[in-house]
Amino acid sequence: MQSMYAPSRSNPLVDNDEDDDDHQEEDNSMYDNSGEESNYHHDIFSNDPDFERVSAKSHISNPFTSMVKKNASQKVLMMMEKMGFKVGEGLGKNNQGSASAIELQQQQGRAGLGSNTSAHYSSNLPEHFTIQTHDPDMTDYPYKEDVSWMTCIEPLSENAPEFSIVRPDNTTLDLSASMNNNGQKYVEGNLSPFVNVQQVQQIFDLKSQFDSVDEKIFTDARYRSNPYERIGRSIFQNRAAIKLANIDRISDLTTLVRLPEENGILYFADICAGPGGFTEYLYYRFKTDKAKGWGFTLKNKKDDWKLNRFNPESPHDNFEVNYGEDGTGDITKNENIRALSKAIDQGTNGRGVALVTADGGFSVHGVENSQEYLTHQLVLCQILTGLMITRRGGSFVCKLFDLNTWFSASLMYILYQNYEKVMIVKPLSSRPANSERYVICKGLRKRQPQIVNYLFDVNIRLSNRENIKSLVDCNVIEKDEMFNKYLSDTNTVIAKSQINSLQRIKNAVEDKYLEIQEKQNKIRDQCLQEWRLPNTQTSKHSGSRSNDKNKRKRHDDDNSRPSQMQKSNTYAPQY
Ligand SMILES: C[S@@+](CC[C@H](N)C(=O)[O-])C[C@H]1O[C@@H](n2cnc3c(N)ncnc32)[C@H](O)[C@@H]1O
Repeated sequence: MQSMYAPSRSNPLVDNDEDDDDHQEEDNSMYDNSGEESNYHHDIFSNDPDFERVSAKSHISNPFTSMVKKNASQKVLMMMEKMGFKVGEGLGKNNQGSASAIELQQQQGRAGLGSNTSAHYSSNLPEHFTIQTHDPDMTDYPYKEDVSWMTCIEPLSENAPEFSIVRPDNTTLDLSASMNNNGQKYVEGNLSPFVNVQQVQQIFDLKSQFDSVDEKIFTDARYRSNPYERIGRSIFQNRAAIKLANIDRISDLTTLVRLPEENGILYFADICAGPGGFTEYLYYRFKTDKAKGWGFTLKNKKDDWKLNRFNPESPHDNFEVNYGEDGTGDITKNENIRALSKAIDQGTNGRGVALVTADGGFSVHGVENSQEYLTHQLVLCQILTGLMITRRGGSFVCKLFDLNTWFSASLMYILYQNYEKVMIVKPLSSRPANSERYVICKGLRKRQPQIVNYLFDVNIRLSNRENIKSLVDCNVIEKDEMFNKYLSDTNTVIAKSQINSLQRIKNAVEDKYLEIQEKQNKIRDQCLQEWRLPNTQTSKHSGSRSNDKNKRKRHDDDNSRPSQMQKSNTYAPQY
C-alpha cells in the first residue's frame, strides 16, 4: 500500500490527470474521426475468439473442457476418447502434459506473436484483478452538474496582515524528495483539514492497483466504463474545447456585462492554453467581430498554438499570441506575466480583459501522487496572472488538480476574497476518475495591485525553492465557515465520484464485455444539446445503435476514442 502522497510506481497509466489526451495528435490525425482509432478495440479482442479461454487462467476450473465443448466436434472427441483421452487430463502416457488448449495466434501488425492474446490479457493482470463477470452499470447518469457558488460576505482589505506566508511546521517537507520517484512521503503536515484523509488514501490505493495494468487494457476499460467518454470533441480540435463549453453552460461564464467602451466585444485572455481548444470555442461562440483574444502558452513545438486546426466556424483574425518577455511563453516567470499584462493593457486602454481562462498542466509521469504539490507554482502563477489582467467585474476560470494541501486551500481563499462568487466544479466532460477540477470565479471586486505584488513575491520564493505551507493565515481560513464547508464538501463529493469511477474502471478491466454504450450515446446527445454544441455523431451512430449486429465493433468508429494511444504523449490518456 502506498503512503499518503508517496509517488506511485512509475507507469504510463498512473494519473497525470491531464485530460486532453487528444490535443496533441499529429496534424494528419487531428481531423480524422475514424482512421487509426477504429482498429483499437478490435486489436484487443480480435485475438480472443473464446472468452472462456481468457477465463481459463482464473476462475474456470477446466479450460480444456470448455474449449472442447465449444470447438471440437463430437467425432474428434470420440476418436480421442477411444485412444484413452479424458477431458481435463494431459495427453501424455500418464495423463501428464498441458490440459489446456494451445491457442491459435495471429500476428497483430508488427507485434511479436504472443503479444496481446487472450492468455496474455489474463496473465498480464496484476494480482488485485480477477477475470470475472460484473453486473452491468444501471446508474442513471445526469447530463447536468449539481453546482453551488460560495460568496465571501466580508472580504479582507488587500493589505490585511492575514495575507502572509505561513512556513511549514513539518520540516520533512522537501521538494527535491517529491521530485524523485522514491516513494518518500511528502506534505502530510501540509494537508488541510478540508480533506478526508481516508478518501485520499483510498484513491491513491485504487490508482496504484492500475500501476502494472497494460496501457491498452486500461484505456479500453476506461473507455467502456466512463459514461461521458463518447462525448468526443464535436467540431473542435480537442476535448478541452468541449470542457469550456460545458463550464460556460454551468456558470454562464461568457454572459458577462460588456462595458459600454467594449462595444459588445468579449475581451479575453487564454493562458497555458496550447493548442488552443478554449480559444477555438470562444471564437466559435462569438466570432471575430464579437471577440478579441490574447493567448499565452509555452513556446514548444508539441504544445504550442495550433491555430490552423481551428474549425472554420471559429474565425479568429484578431487573435494575438504572446510569449512574454523572454519569448518562452513560461507563465512561471514574473517578467513574462508583466509583459502579457502590458500588451493587454495597451489593447484595452488599461482596463484588462473581461474573461481569463487558464488550463495549465504538464506531465507528472512517475510522480503522479505528487501532482498537486508539483503544480503549486503553475496554479499560483495562473491565479496571479488572472488577478492582474482581469478587469473589474470580469471572470476567471482555472484548472486545478487535487485541493488537499494548505497551499491550494489558501489560493482558493484568495480567489474567494477577490471575486463576488466562486465555484469549484468537476465538469461532466472531465474524466470522472481523475483529479482534475476547475475553479470558476465571477465578478472581480476590484483590481488589487497589492495582492498581485504579494503573489509575485511568493512566486520568486517558490522559484528559489523556499518551502511555503500557506499564503494566508491558516486560522483565518479555518474559521471561515462558509469557505471551510464549501471546500470540504466539494473535496468529498469529487473524491467519492473518483473512487466510484476508479472502481468501475477496475470492473471493466476484469470483465472485458462490460459496456454501457447505449447509455454513453444517450448522454453524449443530451450533453451536446445542453452545451449547445454540434453533435457530429448523431446521424452516424443512430443507425448503428438501432441496428447493432456486432457488439464488439460498435464503438470503433467513434471519434471520441483516444487515438494513437501508445504514442508518447505529454498528456497521455489517464484516469
Ligand atoms: C491541457 S493543455 C491546455 C489545453 C488548452 N486549454 C486547449 O484548449 O487546447 C496544458 C497547457 O499548459 C501549458 N503549460 C504548462 N506549463 C506552462 C507554463 N509554465 N507556462 C505556460 N504554459 C504552460 C502546456 O504547454 C499546455 O499547452
